[in-house]
Amino acid sequence: MGALRRFKVWRGDKAGGQLEDFKVEVNEGEVVLDILHRLQATQTPDLAVRWNCKAGKCGSCSMEVNGMPRLGCMTRMSTFAEDETVTVTPLRTFPVIRDLVTDVSFNYEKARDMPAFAPPSGVAPGEYRMQQVDVERSQEFRKCIECFLCQTTCHVVRDHDENKKAFAGPRYFIRAAELDMHPLDAKTDRKDFAHEQQGLGYCNITKCCTEVCPEHIKITDNAIIPMKERVVDNRYDPLVWLGRKIFRRDQLPAQAPAPHPVVAPRQPPPPRVGTHHIPLGVIWHKPQPDGLEAEVGPDGKMPLTEVTFDRAGAASPFGDNVTFPLPPDSLNYQHPKSDD
Ligand code: SF4
Ligand code: SF4
Ligand code: FES
Repeated sequence: MGALRRFKVWRGDKAGGQLEDFKVEVNEGEVVLDILHRLQATQTPDLAVRWNCKAGKCGSCSMEVNGMPRLGCMTRMSTFAEDETVTVTPLRTFPVIRDLVTDVSFNYEKARDMPAFAPPSGVAPGEYRMQQVDVERSQEFRKCIECFLCQTTCHVVRDHDENKKAFAGPRYFIRAAELDMHPLDAKTDRKDFAHEQQGLGYCNITKCCTEVCPEHIKITDNAIIPMKERVVDNRYDPLVWLGRKIFRRDQLPAQAPAPHPVVAPRQPPPPRVGTHHIPLGVIWHKPQPDGLEAEVGPDGKMPLTEVTFDRAGAASPFGDNVTFPLPPDSLNYQHPKSDD
């Protein structure tokens, strides 16, 4: 049996709560989430804690350990001294649902506010080309696991609910930067959006968000500061200022953002014959329609896919006209027969 160590765990709900003391067995190599699972198994079966992958990849087990926002599944118990009391509390910036589970919908609302990637018209999927340097720049931001540790850390909204309306937070600044730096994004008003809608100006580049990011994304250096510089270039460049003094507004080149395409309503699927649509089998080289546009509404926002899409998940790579199971002769791979 491992050593007994002291823990304080916050228990309660939105009406209030308190830290409760526990002594729990800790074994070599264990992480904080292991201890919470042992607590559930032995002392507090109703302890609420959110988790999924236990591999630092789903972003569910965000909590505050000794006041520091961390992933429970990535925080080794060996981080703490053996006689240290480990205090586990819910994310402070979001409302508590119960115990260590918080309501993080603030983040999903901010995500929904963000206009989606707008590919250039006239370029079909499969024809997109970009330099490797541009791929790498945005790939850093795509490592985000949406744990919201950066969001809970940021002092602009931590303890300041009143700022939440006007401030999107570091997770969405990296999304804004990713799209603004994307060479194929046709939307031209990302900088204005970051400045006017996301509250980029509230950030005073303290780098606290960067410090807690489990994916080691350089949120401040690689996303927020470049975005702030782009906003300044866009709005306060002296040449642009001079141009505005010399020319009347109506003589300036139009700066209107590219309108988002309006997506035609989805057509109902064709009637089924037997278990398959006609034609039968996989259409491997199904032609794609030219210039497939991002599925956004007239306001530039993505629909709530899970609610509005007529099928769960993404479109099937096999085409829309196939239902499973496929007949064996439609499969590319055949199981060897037992007498082969
Ligand atoms: S650098 Fe900006 S976004 Fe990040 S924690 Fe500080 S104020 Fe918030
Ligand atoms: S940027 Fe980092 S800290 Fe913020 S949500 Fe993404 S992975 Fe988490
Ligand atoms: S359980 Fe998935 S990140 Fe911790």
